[in-house]
Amino acid sequence: MTSIPVLVTGGAGYIGSHACKALKRAGFEPITYDNCSTGWEDAVKYGPLARGDLLDRERLDQVFAEYKPAAVMHFAALSQVGEAMREPGLYWRNNVAGSLNLIEAAVDAGCLDFVFSSTCATYGDQDNVVLDETSAQMPLNSYGASKRAIEDMLRDFEAAHGLRSVIFRYFNVAGADPEGEVGEFHQPETHLVPLMLDAIEGKRDALTIFGTDYDTPDGTCIRDYVHVCDLVDAHVLGLKWLQDGKGSRVFNLGTGSGFSVREVVAHSQSVTNRDVPIVEGERRPGDCTKLVSGSTRAVQELGWNPTRSNLEAMIRDAWRWHQTGHYDK
Ligand code: UFG
Repeated sequence: MTSIPVLVTGGAGYIGSHACKALKRAGFEPITYDNCSTGWEDAVKYGPLARGDLLDRERLDQVFAEYKPAAVMHFAALSQVGEAMREPGLYWRNNVAGSLNLIEAAVDAGCLDFVFSSTCATYGDQDNVVLDETSAQMPLNSYGASKRAIEDMLRDFEAAHGLRSVIFRYFNVAGADPEGEVGEFHQPETHLVPLMLDAIEGKRDALTIFGTDYDTPDGTCIRDYVHVCDLVDAHVLGLKWLQDGKGSRVFNLGTGSGFSVREVVAHSQSVTNRDVPIVEGERRPGDCTKLVSGSTRAVQELGWNPTRSNLEAMIRDAWRWHQTGHYDK
């Protein structure tokens, strides 16, 4: 039996490459569409790479015509909050205009099942509010705003053209493929776990803790960390949900447990048995105090079972990947 082709935008990136592995394992054929601006060609291991930019509508049309995907999984996006604060235009152009091209190309090609990578950054900073899928979306930065705009776009295209979507709002993704085939590598790196592992290995002088005066028990920001392999498993379930003819749905992907920056540091020290050199710094603009998922909808409705999303497993897998030397490219 031939596998069902799925177009994976951003398949050369951190989450996209793990998604390609999960899709392949589930019997699909992942076709990566990526301009390799922030992704890595050598992370495309589980299906073909179609190089292209989301802003290149002609190239998108060619790829839809060549591979005839049955569905789209859309990961490709700029995703750095700091950069989004400085250069909002990049986010509106690449993420929003790029997604519009992709969605229009999909509709024109008759490819009407769409899995979208959104973010808890669409909720913004809502103190003492349980963030479930019905919470108000009040993003604090252009990154979150761009993702919220794409969610709205998907709803409009469903009403007009029957495009059905599963939207996943991620909390903080960490960890790596336990088999060490793919992992996290951003250039520049901005995420807590890889920066911390760099500091442990002496590749950076220290990890700077961004803000120690937040209104949290230890003064540092709280996040809900999800293992990348659990996260992409949810995407495969989301794809099957659409294939089963179920309607468009939004799912948070978080565990409901929050950890402060200091707690992540402490866990890393115990997992790696090494010290994390730290420096206490200023708050980073655009950061929310606390982002923790308040919903188990994905577990209840999709049957999602996030077995690896505990700090020990995430840090252990990230540490194993870190030590493969991919960071020394
Ligand atoms: N942090 C530090 N020092 C660092 C890096 C991060 O203290 O060097 C802190 C941050 O302030 C934050 C936590 O560690 O409190 C996690 O930071 P990350 O940069 O790893 O992740 P973010 O929470 O900023 O970002 C993630 C996703 C974004 C998404 C955002 C939603 O990476 O794509 O969640 O807020 F937009």
